[in-house]
Amino acid sequence: MKSIVNYVMKKSGLRLDMYRESFLRRRLELRMRTLGFRNLSEYFCYLRSNEGEIAELINAIAINVTEFMRDVTPFRFFMEKILPEISEKRVLRFWSAGCAYGEEAYSIAICSLEATECNFTVYATDIDDECLKRALMGIYSESQLRNLSEEMKRKYFERIGNKLKVKDFVKKHVRFRKHDLTSQEPVTRFLDAIFCRNVLIYFTEEQKTKVIRDFYEALVDGGYLIVGKSETIPKLGFDCISLSEKIYKRKPRHPDCPTDDRCNSEQMRGTSRLSGWGGGQKKR
Ligand SMILES: C[S@@+](CC[C@H](N)C(=O)[O-])C[C@H]1O[C@@H](n2cnc3c(N)ncnc32)[C@H](O)[C@@H]1O
Repeated sequence: MKSIVNYVMKKSGLRLDMYRESFLRRRLELRMRTLGFRNLSEYFCYLRSNEGEIAELINAIAINVTEFMRDVTPFRFFMEKILPEISEKRVLRFWSAGCAYGEEAYSIAICSLEATECNFTVYATDIDDECLKRALMGIYSESQLRNLSEEMKRKYFERIGNKLKVKDFVKKHVRFRKHDLTSQEPVTRFLDAIFCRNVLIYFTEEQKTKVIRDFYEALVDGGYLIVGKSETIPKLGFDCISLSEKIYKRKPRHPDCPTDDRCNSEQMRGTSRLSGWGGGQKKR
């Protein structure tokens, strides 16, 4: 397994060594069985002689299960408690990290349209190209929207045959881009809330800690971090606001703590220099 991990890392740059070993083994074995190989050595030979298989394997590792307002209650908390609290600001900034097909990002946008009159942007990222392509289209089957009321469906979606398409006035708030959470490359800063739900669960403790540190840097003081219901995080610089909803709030930086070097870099001073965002408004 180690040889496969090293090979994929070398070829793709994805830090597979930062994923939990048991998780990786399950995904690799599933891919191996799907292709009809009896063991990982046979699969490794195939992987080396088929360029396209690396992308297929990465897709198999990225489990994309999701839906609108997944688990419902964290989104209710966001709408009823967090948004009213932060709505005195003129512009709000959110990040859906590991957004899969976009349901989470559009859910954040819908909650914001329901609960605040502020202008806002939802930045949404994933490592999976296929997910991002579909997220940009914003077309979903009815079952993905089972947590939304009929009124919400009417208000925020248009029907196209038996599918539902996110209306343009919602889409214009959401911007998609490819991003690997193991890369530690900055996405944006001065965020009011980060949703990173059902992604950290795949990572080693070391990688989780790195990602939480990056989130700390990306949030404003008092900004919120919302993780998946079954996930735990090292509480580095965060207070737990709701244990049941897994909602955390960034503590202010201690005055004695020197600013992280990355915060001083050009790249970290906002998004204006970062390109590659799809969707959303063209100019802001
Ligand atoms: C189970 S889905 C979660 C989707 C959504 N956040 C939710 O809770 O419904 C996990 C997503 O994490 C993405 N992912 C996995 N590893 C990643 C990484 N290193 N960087 C960014 N996204 C990653 C996968 O591609 C997948 O779309």
